[in-house]
Amino acid sequence: EKAGYPHFMLKEIFEQPKAIQDCLRGRLDSTTHQITLSGLEKVKNKLLAAQRIIIVACGTSWHAALLAEYWIEELCRVPVEVEYASEFRYRNPIVGQDDLIIAISQSGETADTLVALENAKLHGATIFGIVNVVGSSIARLSDSGIYTHAGPEIGVASTKAFTTQLAALLLFAIKLAQYKQTIDTPTSDTLINELHAVPDKVQEILNTQLEKIKRIAHKYVDAKDFLYLGRGYNFPIALEGALKLKEISYIHAEGYPAAEMKHGPIALVDENLPVLFIATKDKIQEKIISNMQEIKARSGQLIALLSTDDTLVSSMADDSIEIPEAHEIIAPILSTIPLQLLAYYIGIDRGCDVDKPRNLAKSVTVE
Ligand code: M6R
Repeated sequence: EKAGYPHFMLKEIFEQPKAIQDCLRGRLDSTTHQITLSGLEKVKNKLLAAQRIIIVACGTSWHAALLAEYWIEELCRVPVEVEYASEFRYRNPIVGQDDLIIAISQSGETADTLVALENAKLHGATIFGIVNVVGSSIARLSDSGIYTHAGPEIGVASTKAFTTQLAALLLFAIKLAQYKQTIDTPTSDTLINELHAVPDKVQEILNTQLEKIKRIAHKYVDAKDFLYLGRGYNFPIALEGALKLKEISYIHAEGYPAAEMKHGPIALVDENLPVLFIATKDKIQEKIISNMQEIKARSGQLIALLSTDDTLVSSMADDSIEIPEAHEIIAPILSTIPLQLLAYYIGIDRGCDVDKPRNLAKSVTVE
């Protein structure tokens, strides 16, 4: 049932072009540049009236929520708050009828997320679920939603569930921006075209970067700690990359907003610390390049995720992984893929049980 792959995790990483395509199918039409989301249509009035959106999730799904905050605020100009479900449920949050709650959960059974939503529902909030498992508890509790259609995810580490959550959330953000008229047609056409191209670009990464990532994994297999840094849309991806490495290889890793490192983590940097930068081309790339220089000046080992043919960034890095060029809103979906593979190969090199990491359960149904 692993279809010839040694592990479910690798199989599921390689299934991502298809999973993302399945998520977009029937929803995104790149010829007419239309997005059709019946779940959104259903709660359109609530959505347009909502004064803010609160996104509730745990773990990797929380990282998807954080990126969605950046996307929705940028494209739809509505305030978004991102909450850990376990915190939200116990802290008497201010929530009521004017709030739209987006719940993100692969399994649809995470206990903290479920109870957080039940509480919000009691206060009259509308619940919109981004869920993979059809008919799961969170899907049933939701007033409406979008199924991610990733297919069954067996590996404990979330891979294709995450990238399909991102695809669904970006569909949501573009469509809401169209409803609210906060996006112009050229921008929405560009994003729709670029989202349509994501499955092929993910495939390109899988086809071209694998050997390089295996080599990098081998080189850093004995690292004690790892730092993952990104800015803007890439900050949530840095968090996700670090979580993946921790889960799968048991190497301590931290994700941080790149500029924030100067307020603490920079004290960790020496010649033994690998620091992975997500440094693809975008409006703030110049800023991340200066953060890279700061690490280099302290002899840290620099690994860079960079846009294909970016010779400036590759000349600074000890090791680099290439991402096909993409709009800055789309690029973080692509940057996720090498980070999953890096965690996988380091885990394998260290002899870890990558499909079933110690102490972890696929779905956390107890608090
Ligand atoms: O099923 P959910 O999306 O609600 O699960 C949330 C987290 O437990 C999950 O994403 C966890 O962090 C993964 N093991 C990460 O790879």
